[in-house]
Amino acid sequence: MPNAPLRIAPSILAADFARLGEETRAADAAGGDWIHLDVMDGHFVPNISFGPEVVRALRPLTAKVLDVHLMIAPADPYLEAFARAGADVITVHAEAGPHVHRSLQAIRGLGKRAGVAINPGTPAAAVEPLLDLVDLVLVMSVNPGFGGQSFIPSACETIRRIAALTAGREVDIEVDGGITPQTARLAAQAGANVFVAGSSVFAGGADYGGRIAAIRRAAEEAIGTWA
Ligand code: DX5
Ligand code: ZN
Repeated sequence: MPNAPLRIAPSILAADFARLGEETRAADAAGGDWIHLDVMDGHFVPNISFGPEVVRALRPLTAKVLDVHLMIAPADPYLEAFARAGADVITVHAEAGPHVHRSLQAIRGLGKRAGVAINPGTPAAAVEPLLDLVDLVLVMSVNPGFGGQSFIPSACETIRRIAALTAGREVDIEVDGGITPQTARLAAQAGANVFVAGSSVFAGGADYGGRIAAIRRAAEEAIGTWA
């Protein structure tokens, strides 16, 4: 059985940045459970997106969980700013610095849910020493930095191992990168319960609701095969 309920988290990285407020409201109204916010620094990843002021600007527009994925190094100097801006979940990368326990403790100390993310090349075992400190494990199914990349199938094995490590704990397992109805099914079978989707929600016209529902349906169908 999964550890936690199924959630679809549209990533506004793929939204129209000139209309970010409207796009956030639209993702909420279309049935997104969480709003996923990708923060990139041009150092940990080869792209730059936005910082805490954008999170602060979007906070009043939705009551949904703001799921902040920090692809920045170092992360610690900015945790308080993202917490104050209204993030609900703050996720740091295990690869982003030598003191990840400190980052996770700091996030919880700020009263927020703490997540740890791992890149596709990082083994699931990297998360094992952190289990008492995390509310969420984010398994990257692309190398972070850009939307619109293809799902890396080995992420499913990583998810399976994370699911085994977190069995019996209240920990969300989030998958991020290349999520479509087809890949959501594979990730759900492996044990993921939070599905980040950027281009498969925002690209291809206004029917965000239909595309969110399709991902949800595919993941739900796979629940029957959850080990
Ligand atoms: C990638 C980001 C993802 C990205 C996913 O670096 O962490 O959240 O927005 O985009 P898609 O769904 O287009 O792969
Ligand atoms: Zn992300």
